Amino acid sequence: MHREVIDKYYLLLHPRPAYIIGSGKWGEKINFMAASWVTPVAEEPPRVAIAIDIESYTHELIKEFKEFTVNILPLSKVNIVYKVGSISGRRKNKSDLVRARKGEKVDAPVIEDSLGHLECRVVDEHSSEDVTLFIGDILSAKVNTEYFSEKSGWNFKKINIPLHNWGRGFYSVGRFILVR
Ligand SMILES: Cc1cc2nc3c(=O)[nH]c(=O)nc-3n(C[C@H](O)[C@H](O)[C@H](O)COP(=O)(O)O)c2cc1C
Repeated sequence: MHREVIDKYYLLLHPRPAYIIGSGKWGEKINFMAASWVTPVAEEPPRVAIAIDIESYTHELIKEFKEFTVNILPLSKVNIVYKVGSISGRRKNKSDLVRARKGEKVDAPVIEDSLGHLECRVVDEHSSEDVTLFIGDILSAKVNTEYFSEKSGWNFKKINIPLHNWGRGFYSVGRFILVR
């Protein structure tokens, strides 16, 4: 039997990987927030879209500087992902929670000990009531090669990443299945 759950429709689309969005301008003001509503949108040119709540500090900084980064943290740091996703940078300086540096192609910050990160410049945005979908050209995509190969992506024998299910509830990536 199916039941209507439209108020929580997005939970039907979870779990989703939880990343940390870096925003702002190095040396001026920077911020980090958790985001699961992140998706690749084009290969040529490389593009990613992020859906950001208009009330967040991140939204304000992306509007101002037109840049953001997407940082992939290991499951062992899920508590940091949760922390930057549960308080606003307007109330607390969250850059103390991670080791940050300026991006190479953008002035927005990247997380040094991330598994990988994307440096993005906003090329388009779509306003959707309480959220803005920012579309960014990916100017750089750096990865820790100990845990990743271009042929088969992440090596989940060596690392895992957090998948956000709801609120404080996360999963890890599970069983590998090779379709024949
Ligand atoms: C795992 C997780 C995923 C989240 N995903 C998103 C998201 O995709 N978009 C969004 O706007 N907020 C998302 N949030 C909520 C923001 O991270 C949260 O509102 C944060 O406090 C905003 O911080 P800021 O005001 O410093 O930008 C998520 C929170 C968590 C814990």
